[in-house]
Amino acid sequence: MYEHLLMEEKGPVAVVAIHNPKSLNALNSATLSELNACLGEIEKRRDIRVVIVTGSGTKAFAAGADISEMVNAAAAEGRAMALLAKETFRRLEKMPQVTIAAVNGYALGGGCELSMSCDIRVAAENAVFGQPECGLGILPGFGGTQRLARLVGKGRAKELIFTCDRIDAREAYRIGLANKVVPAAELMDTCFAMAERILSKGSYAVSLAKMCIETGTDTDLDSGLEMEAVNFGLAFATHDKKEGMTAFLEKRAAVLTDF
Ligand code: CAA
Repeated sequence: MYEHLLMEEKGPVAVVAIHNPKSLNALNSATLSELNACLGEIEKRRDIRVVIVTGSGTKAFAAGADISEMVNAAAAEGRAMALLAKETFRRLEKMPQVTIAAVNGYALGGGCELSMSCDIRVAAENAVFGQPECGLGILPGFGGTQRLARLVGKGRAKELIFTCDRIDAREAYRIGLANKVVPAAELMDTCFAMAERILSKGSYAVSLAKMCIETGTDTDLDSGLEMEAVNFGLAFATHDKKEGMTAFLEKRAAVLTDF
């Protein structure tokens, strides 16, 4: 169905892999369009509750935007690419499903930016992160100046973007870019195990919490707390709240079904 993506469903978990084997999964416009369409389909589905984003093969998550496509592009085309990535990556942040980046190798430029748009990043020991754009005479254009600074702080983001230094998985973990580092052979199992733990909780409650974190942390504290209070109240109207609390009091396992 897709030329640049591989998609696999395992129950409530979808695995979406960038698949451009000739260019270390570089993100050309066609790939971004497919990813946007694919996420658009997934976000409408209630049977998929977790999305794992990865790169096909063993060497790269995604080695960045496609340099061969950008080399002769004009300013308007550059802006159009960035806006397509903005729409696509924003979808990952805003979709009700939890998104986990399984970073299985190079996550450079647009690849690092794709991983940062996922809710959680699990890095294989061979993962390499970096924003090499300034070495190409451009700057990060798929959200790197904004998301890296929000994730690791302005000082570290500036250092990484200005020097174009590549960092390994352990350093990414140390600065808070990666949530976890695991041996490459255990990467997908670790992501599935994390998905299982999340799926055992109330999926609707998780989606409300995601929305509050995403929207709230980009606003002032009072507005964020107000948003949290409204959604906390909303959760009281759900089956899951009644079931979750009743099950606790009855000392039995809850059966949480809302999404
Ligand atoms: N775009 C297009 N093609 C790419 C690519 C990219 N980002 N990254 C790798 N490739 C291609 C290579 O050109 C090469 O193609 P050929 O076999 O036809 O020569 C193939 O993938 C394999 O790559 P290498 O031979 O270079 O593999 P390596 O193991 O020696 O090096 C690497 C791996 C360090 C990741 C190196 O490929 C590299 O530095 N890639 C570019 C990384 C980069 O600069 N990314 C940022 C792009 S700009 C961006 O992303 C802007 C933004 O913010 C959106």
